[in-house]
Amino acid sequence: MTTTVENPLRRESRLERTPQPTTIVIFGATGDLTHRKLLPALYNLEMDHHLPSSFSVVGFARRDWSDDKFREEMRSGIEQFSRRPLDPAVWETFCQKLHFLSSEFESCEGYERLNKLLTEKEQEHGIGSNVIYYLATQPSYYPTIIERLGEAELGGRNRKTEQGYTRLIIEKPFGHDLESARELNEQLHRVFSENQIYRIDHYLGKETVQNILMFRFANGIFEPIWDRRYVDHIQITAAESIGVEGRGRYYEESGALRDMVQSHLLQLLNLVAMEPPVSFEANAVRDEKVKVLRAIRPIRGNAVAEQVVRGQYAGGWVHSDHLQAYREESNVNRDSATETYVALKLFIDNWRWQGVPFYMRTGKELTKRVTEIAIQFKQPPHMLFGSEVQGGLEPNVLALRIQPDEGISLKVLVKTPGTRTSLRPVKMEFLYGTSFGTEPPEAYERLLLDCLLGDSTLFTRSDEVEASWAFITDILDAWEQMPPPDFPNYESGTWGPREADRLLYRDGREWRWP
Ligand code: BG6
Repeated sequence: MTTTVENPLRRESRLERTPQPTTIVIFGATGDLTHRKLLPALYNLEMDHHLPSSFSVVGFARRDWSDDKFREEMRSGIEQFSRRPLDPAVWETFCQKLHFLSSEFESCEGYERLNKLLTEKEQEHGIGSNVIYYLATQPSYYPTIIERLGEAELGGRNRKTEQGYTRLIIEKPFGHDLESARELNEQLHRVFSENQIYRIDHYLGKETVQNILMFRFANGIFEPIWDRRYVDHIQITAAESIGVEGRGRYYEESGALRDMVQSHLLQLLNLVAMEPPVSFEANAVRDEKVKVLRAIRPIRGNAVAEQVVRGQYAGGWVHSDHLQAYREESNVNRDSATETYVALKLFIDNWRWQGVPFYMRTGKELTKRVTEIAIQFKQPPHMLFGSEVQGGLEPNVLALRIQPDEGISLKVLVKTPGTRTSLRPVKMEFLYGTSFGTEPPEAYERLLLDCLLGDSTLFTRSDEVEASWAFITDILDAWEQMPPPDFPNYESGTWGPREADRLLYRDGREWRWP
């Protein structure tokens, strides 16, 4: 007799469902995000026939643009940033779906015009009234836009429609500390219910990040060793070779801890550390993620100086190019105390991870661009091969490479050929590029399509965002009491401040050089 066991990863494939006719309203449509990411992503979805048959985009922003001007600007964004070249035939159809509404974000009259436009679209589409609002403005406008949507009865709680859905996508940064994140959640919940809100973290849309869950939970061999008994420590690196690239004004208010750790790095930590969810349904996955965040041991007071290292780039020469110091970038204070680098050590106080250190680091203007998670396993309990063995007894490392050169490698020791007993580490490697030969979609393509399909698995829930801010805010509070004494403290093009190396040396470990 055979028994069929329900596969927890099996669910309706997203593409078995087609999104319903929808209008996407992008607030801040004249900005960089729309130009570089959102429109190229929508254009690629159109190319792949993933968009609904009736679909339109309304760009809502302050500039006095016409529909034609909006289309022209979006075309140039797609030409520069789309992963595939613009196809004139596809563009001809697609551009007819783009419209522009010029208004101040505060102006009630603008929202009345929006309401009228949406009603027209509903009549055109012939069914319900599906609308997605995308907040792509500076975060300081979020409260005003949310409030105006509520007043104009365009939000979810009071929208006067029988059919259809209303969803809202909100970009990071979601607040700048725990209190402001809570406040923003409250403002949102006055107008929208939680299941209408899609807080975006583009890292979750990356193929390789999604693969962390598949890799862990679709293969039986890793889960039994994925805990404190076998894992020595975990390193998470998100290194960038570029600086702040004209975003000085934003970055001065943010810094690396808020910009990268609160969102992307903690998301990576969640996925690598979480327990298997009961199903692959949005809330089941998010329940497990939030448990990890709540189990992180807080880093407070003096522990901050011991466990967290911050840095700021000093400029320098990289491959005969002269790079500016952070303090020389435009819109940056000449004596800025903003960190462009963070390294930290944390512990997760739960059954699985008790005593296992997680080291995380991120920074701008480092040696190279690389994001990876490395799981370093413990050495064998008894070493059979003693002093007669030549070569290092390096531990096994499983490296999940998020970008670039996406793939997975496992470092193992093998005997080198010959009559002498000597060991050498070698890598067993899988590379996406060579194994699949296809280019993965951009993170924003995946996330926009998921929102169109009403799948919020890859979006952050309110309790999750608050739990991550609770951890980060303790560190921010401690930093406020002790300004950095040594900024700038690392040369551009290096792996960051020396102090970050000492963080690991003290524990008898060292950073990988991925
Ligand atoms: C953004 C940060 O969220 O992520 C940027 O604001 C950072 O500062 C970027 O450069 C990194 O994303 P990616 O996809 O290039 O790794």
